[in-house]
Amino acid sequence: MVALAKSRSLFDTDSPDIAVFAADAVAGLSATPKHIAPKYFYDHEGSRLFETITRQPEYYPTRCELEILHAHAGDMAKLMPDNAALVEFGSGSAVKAKILIAAAGEKLAAYIPVDISGEFVDQEVADLRKEFPALPIEPVTADFMQPFQLPAIAAGKTKVGFFPGSTIGNLEPHEASAFLRHAGAILGENALLIIGVDLVKDAEILNAAYNDKAGVTEAFNLNLLTRMNRELAADFKPETFEHHAFYNRERRRIEMHLASLKRQKVKVAGSVIDFRAGDTIHTENSYKYTPGSFSALARGARWTPVEMWTDSEQLFSVHALVHK
Ligand code: AVJ
Repeated sequence: MVALAKSRSLFDTDSPDIAVFAADAVAGLSATPKHIAPKYFYDHEGSRLFETITRQPEYYPTRCELEILHAHAGDMAKLMPDNAALVEFGSGSAVKAKILIAAAGEKLAAYIPVDISGEFVDQEVADLRKEFPALPIEPVTADFMQPFQLPAIAAGKTKVGFFPGSTIGNLEPHEASAFLRHAGAILGENALLIIGVDLVKDAEILNAAYNDKAGVTEAFNLNLLTRMNRELAADFKPETFEHHAFYNRERRRIEMHLASLKRQKVKVAGSVIDFRAGDTIHTENSYKYTPGSFSALARGARWTPVEMWTDSEQLFSVHALVHK
C-alpha cells in the first residue's frame, strides 16, 4: 500500500505530461484488449525513427505524397484565394509546406504552423524565414485536436488548412469526421483544406510498408516500451515482445501491436500488468480510404470535395475540400 501510494504521488506531481501518460498507459494496459494511443510513439527517439521510416523503400506514403505535391502544387495554389493564411495542422517538418508556399507565392499572406511540440518547429521556422523573408510566419503551440485560437494575423484572411501525411488515418472514422468539423470551425467559411489520405490497396503493398526489411518500423513500435521504461519507471524487456503489423481488410486499416512472447508481469507507473503468451498491446491503427469513402466522410463533416490528386502508382491521395 505504502509503495503504491508513493509511486502514485510521484507520477501525479513530476510533470503534468508524465502524469497524463502514466494514467493513459495504466488504463490502456489494464483494459481488454490492451492498447496505447499512437501519439505516444513520438518521443525524441520515436520522432527520429519515424523520419527514418519515411526513407524506407517499402514505406510509400511520404514518397508518393511528395510526388503529388511537386506535380500539383500549382493546381492547389490556383484553388487558393488571394490574401490567404496557410494553417498547417501538426507540422513536424516543413518539407511539404515549403512546396505549397513556393507555389502559392503572393497569394499567401501568412503561414501558421500549429504543433504540439514547440521546439521541433523552431528550427524549421528559422529556415523558412530565410527562404521566404516576405512571408509572415506565426507558429502556434497547441494540440490541434483540441480547440485553439488562431493568431491575430489570421483575422480577415481566408484560411487554407494543410494536413499532410495521412495523419488523419490514425483516427477512428467517427473521430476523423469530428476532426474535420473542428477544423472547419477553426478555419471558417470558404476555407480550403488540402489533406493527404492513404488509399486502400493490395494487402501485400500495405503489409510491406509496415514491416520494412531494415526493421525500422519494428524498432519504432518497440521504442514505446523503452519510453515507458524511462518515463514511467516501467520494467518492460523489449526482447520479450514482438512487432506485429498487418492489414485488416474488413476495417480497411493497418493494425500495429506488440505481442508478448511469454507469460509475464510488468510494472508500469506503480501498477502491475499481467501478460499471457500472445497477449498484445494494440499501438496503432492506420485507416485507408478510397477516393469515394474519403469524399463521403468529408461531405458528412460539411466539407465539399473540389479536387483530388494521386501519384503515378495510385497509392496515395491528396484531396482539396472547401468548407461550406
Ligand atoms: C504518421 C500516422 C501517417 O500510419 O503510416 C508509420 C505512422 N506507423 N509506420 C502511418 C506510421 C508505422 C504513419 N502516420
